[in-house]
Amino acid sequence: MEKTFLMVKPDGVQRNLIGEIVSRFEKKGFQLVGAKLMQIPTELAEEHYGEHKERPFFGELVEFITSGPVFAMVWQGENVIATARHMMGATNPKDAAPGTIRGEYGVIVGKNIIHGSDSSESAEREIGLFFNGEGLVEYKRDVNNWI
Ligand code: PPS
Repeated sequence: MEKTFLMVKPDGVQRNLIGEIVSRFEKKGFQLVGAKLMQIPTELAEEHYGEHKERPFFGELVEFITSGPVFAMVWQGENVIATARHMMGATNPKDAAPGTIRGEYGVIVGKNIIHGSDSSESAEREIGLFFNGEGLVEYKRDVNNWI
C-alpha cells in the first residue's frame, strides 16, 4: 500500500492545527501508520530540503523548519501521495484553492503549514530520513469491532 510523508510545520503546530490536519486525512479514509512530535536538527533539515540548497530561500526555509517542533507523520492508502498534495493545496497559499489546508489556513509561502512528499521517490526518502524504518505500525482497521 502506498505511503507518504506529511509534516505539520512549526507554524501549524503553534497555531494548534495538528488535530485539524490529522482529522482531514482520517476522514478522507487514509490510515495513520506513524507519527511523532519532534524538533528537527539543522543537519536533518538541510538533508531533507537538500534539492533546494541553491535556491535563494534555502537558509530561510531551514531556519523556519527548525524554529519549533513539527509533527511528522506517515500516512498510507491508495494514491495517498498525490491525493495528500491536492488536499494540501498549492505551495503558495495565495494560489491555494479554498477548502485545501493551505487555502484555508495559510497566508504566505514561507509559512505554509504543511509539507508533503511530491513523488514515490521522495516519500521513500523522507520516510527513511524521519522514521529510519522505526516507529511505523501496520494494523488492520475494523471500526465495527471497536464500538
Ligand atoms: S514544491 O511544492 O516542492 O514544488 O515547491 P517549491 O516551490 O519547489 O518549494 C520547495 C520548498 O520551499 C518552500 N518555499 C519557500 N520557503 C520560503 N520562502 C519562499 N519564498 C519559498 N518558496 C518555496 C516550499 O514551501 C517548499 O517546502 P515544502 O516543505 O516542500 O512545502
